[in-house]
Amino acid sequence: MRAIGFDVNGGPAVLRPVELPVPVPGPGEVLVQVAYAGVGHGEVRHRLGDFGPPGAPGGIDVPGFEASGEVAALGPGVTGLAEGDPVAVYLPSGGGYAQYAVAPAALAFPLDGISLRDGGGTALTLTTAYGVLAGAARLTAGDTVLIHAAAGGVGSAAAQIARALGAAAVYGTVGSPAKAHYAKRFGYDAVHGRDTFADAVPEVDVVLDPVGGPTRLASLGILGPFGRLAVYGEAGRHPDIGLDIRQVREHNRALSGYDIADLARRAPALLRAHALAALSLLASGTIRLDITTQLSLSEAAEAHETLEAGRGMGKTLLRVE
Ligand SMILES: NC(=O)c1ccc[n+]([C@@H]2O[C@H](COP(=O)([O-])OP(=O)(O)OC[C@H]3O[C@@H](n4cnc5c(N)ncnc54)[C@H](OP(=O)(O)O)[C@@H]3O)[C@@H](O)[C@H]2O)c1
Repeated sequence: MRAIGFDVNGGPAVLRPVELPVPVPGPGEVLVQVAYAGVGHGEVRHRLGDFGPPGAPGGIDVPGFEASGEVAALGPGVTGLAEGDPVAVYLPSGGGYAQYAVAPAALAFPLDGISLRDGGGTALTLTTAYGVLAGAARLTAGDTVLIHAAAGGVGSAAAQIARALGAAAVYGTVGSPAKAHYAKRFGYDAVHGRDTFADAVPEVDVVLDPVGGPTRLASLGILGPFGRLAVYGEAGRHPDIGLDIRQVREHNRALSGYDIADLARRAPALLRAHALAALSLLASGTIRLDITTQLSLSEAAEAHETLEAGRGMGKTLLRVE
């Protein structure tokens, strides 16, 4: 099968077309014929080596943590799915930038009333947005929320999900005026600059932070009593802020973290519940996925270049023929 892989960590240029055998689903796994692969910041980190050097058999890693397609084969013991079913899959070890991918059946989510195209950007992106809000941040109706990287794949979904879960106000921050303009379509009450938000945003109950560094530190200062800072990424590639825990106690703050791979290992049923809840919001039209860029599989490096430079807006997909 055709795939995009890398055998050395580095810039977008290390991504190259490769020919690999079609993987065989093991017990509890499904083989999916990929139609669309989502492209997100996580794959940039995979390529750069944040999760270690390429370690897949043959020395070639295939990126791609989320994809959509039709079930092509079931591994031993899989029930509840059939060949031909349209699914979105979360792929904890990557593998989505390929004609076929193997996923744990527990992380294959039926696409009822959702197109394969939309489905391609859901299994990681929507699940994370929902999980950070409902799981890590314990959002409840009436809470006010600030979302950093507000125009990105996860951020743009999180704004809509927060509103669907009853948030009273949703604010965002972005890195450029063009993104501020773009983000307004997702229902933010206001969108501010990433470097100036601390003076502009009122105290909030919840902050979603995938950026880190100075953004993370400044976010602590705008939490109201018992406010929650939910940390789920390091897009800014800053050093750890080395927080003194007494600052948390002395200001009635709470810190929480979200990591989808850890959840997949330790609580796949919870991850699945978040995914299905988010997919049902998409199927009902309560939220939408804003696909701004669709490229072919062979153009994966171009997609990575845009995301790595922080220029991404909305969701980027690769069409896999
Ligand atoms: N924990 C998990 O399980 C999990 C799962 C999925 C994604 N994530 C994380 O969630 C974040 C969003 O992911 P996404 O796929 O939707 O991508 P994304 O939002 O398109 O990209 C990340 C955003 O981070 C901001 N950013 C700040 N400093 C940056 C820098 N130095 N370089 C690049 N971007 C920078 C940019 O937005 P602005 O310029 O507008 O600030 C950029 O658009 C990422 O940090 C990703 O790693 C975590």
